[in-house]
Amino acid sequence: MLNEINPELFERLKKVDSSREFFEFLDRRLRKSVRINTLKARLEVVFERLSKEGLLEERVPWCDFGYYVSEEDFSTIPEHQLGIIFPQSSVSMIPPLLMDLRKGMKVLDLCASPGAKTTEIAQLMENEGCIVANDVKIERLNVLISNLQKCGVLIAKVTMMDGRKFGKFENRFDAVLVDAPCSNLGMIRRSYAHAKLWSLKLSLDLSKLQKELLIAGYKALKPGGVLVYSTCTFEPLENEAVVDYLLRNTNAEIEEVNLPLRSIPGFTEFEGHRFLGEVKKCIRIHPQLNDSEGFFVAKLIKSESS
Ligand SMILES: C[S@@+](CC[C@H](N)C(=O)[O-])C[C@H]1O[C@@H](n2cnc3c(N)ncnc32)[C@H](O)[C@@H]1O
Repeated sequence: MLNEINPELFERLKKVDSSREFFEFLDRRLRKSVRINTLKARLEVVFERLSKEGLLEERVPWCDFGYYVSEEDFSTIPEHQLGIIFPQSSVSMIPPLLMDLRKGMKVLDLCASPGAKTTEIAQLMENEGCIVANDVKIERLNVLISNLQKCGVLIAKVTMMDGRKFGKFENRFDAVLVDAPCSNLGMIRRSYAHAKLWSLKLSLDLSKLQKELLIAGYKALKPGGVLVYSTCTFEPLENEAVVDYLLRNTNAEIEEVNLPLRSIPGFTEFEGHRFLGEVKKCIRIHPQLNDSEGFFVAKLIKSESS
C-alpha cells in the first residue's frame, strides 16, 4: 500500500525499520485513547462512570490518567464536551511526563497548538504556576485557546510568536517543551495524507527549523532545567540529527527515558551520518512495539555551568 502511495518514502522507511511488523502496524487501525482531566473531576469518579458505560478499556501503561477507549466516536459523550476527558494518542502523553513538573513552575510550551500537551502540563502542575503556551499560527491559536478553556486551565498565557525568537528570553523557564512541527509520519495509521505529502526536501527543511526551535528552547531554559524534544515522525533528519545538533553546539546533557514501554534507542548512525553516542538515550517508538502511533522523544538537561 505505502509503496504505491509514495515509493520514495517506502524505500526511506525500509532503512529506518525493515521489519514486517513495522509495515503491518502502519496499515492497522489506530487504537484510540483519552486522558482523564483531573483539573475538572476526580479520576476515580470518571473512571467508574465511563467504565460502567463500557467506554474505557485498560490504562495506558505509562500514564496514570490515560485510558484506551472502545468507541470510535465519543464526541457526543458529555465528559468529552465538558473537557473531563481529552482525546489524546497514548504516545502524545509522554513528553509532559518527562518534564519533572511541579506546582509553581514557570514552563514554556514552544509549539503548543492544539494544546494536548499544554493541558496535560497544567494537569501535572495542578493549575499552579505559569505556562507560556506559544504557537506561530493564528488559526491554530484559536483551537489552543478553546481547548485551554474547555479543560479548565487557569495558568496559561497564550502567545503568538515564531518560536525561534524565544532564544532572547535567556534562562527564564524551569522547564521547556519543544513538540516540534514535523513530517507526521508516525501518524500514518490515522491518515495516509502524511505519507502522500512526504519528500526528502520536506524533512530537510523541517530539520533546519527544528534545530533552530530546539536551540531557542534551550536558551530560554534555566540552568538545571529540563528540555523535552519530541516529534511524531520516524525520520532521523528530524529526530537524532536535531538532538545531535543541540548536543554539539551547547552544554546540553541527555538523560535516559525510563517509562514502562517498549522502545528502540536513538540511532547513532543513519545513511553514513554518524551521531554522538549519547543520542542513543533518545527513544524511538515504532507502532508495532506498543500498538501506538510512531513517536520520538529526548529528555535534555541544561548544565548548571551553561
Ligand atoms: C506537533 S504540533 C504541536 C502539538 C501540540 N504540542 C499538542 O500536543 O497538541 C506543532 C505545532 O508547531 C507550530 N509551529 C510551526 N512552526 C512554528 C514556529 N516557527 N514557532 C512556533 N510554533 C510553530 C505549528 O503551528 C503546530 O501547531
